[in-house]
Amino acid sequence: MKERTLSIIKPDAVGKGLIGEMIKRFEQAGFKIVAMKMVHMSKKEAEGFYAVHKERPFFESVTRFMSSGPSVVMVLEADNVIARNRELMGATNYKEAAEGTIRREFATDIEKNVVHGSDAPETAAFEIGYFFNALELVGV
Ligand code: CMP
Repeated sequence: MKERTLSIIKPDAVGKGLIGEMIKRFEQAGFKIVAMKMVHMSKKEAEGFYAVHKERPFFESVTRFMSSGPSVVMVLEADNVIARNRELMGATNYKEAAEGTIRREFATDIEKNVVHGSDAPETAAFEIGYFFNALELVGV
């Protein structure tokens, strides 16, 4: 079943010149990019995005990191794309990420882990709506 997920190329990856590498991997995986833009989130905007994590010990740090520079946010579409994108990214902690995954190859830290991907249909719906309105999604 066709599905959509929200993907973020995080500030560490943008800073290291990895935007093209990330997009290449998404396209080679067969994911269709149906929306994309560059954003520099404010601290408040990052806090809103990660609101589900607000009680976690890493909340302050991850929202500071995510507002430290520009990110590229995009909506990817494919069959079962939420799970497939998580597989392509690898585990949150790059030390546990499988060989050949994005995080295993490029992450330097559990926080600076290069990419974000929605973890379920409900979070994907919230996260896509956080950055894009219906008119910005190609093919709606
Ligand atoms: P992401 O998939 O964007 O979801 C929440 C983010 O918080 C995660 O990637 C990491 O960047 C960060 N994060 C998650 N768990 C931890 C942790 N235990 N310590 C520090 N940062 C974390």
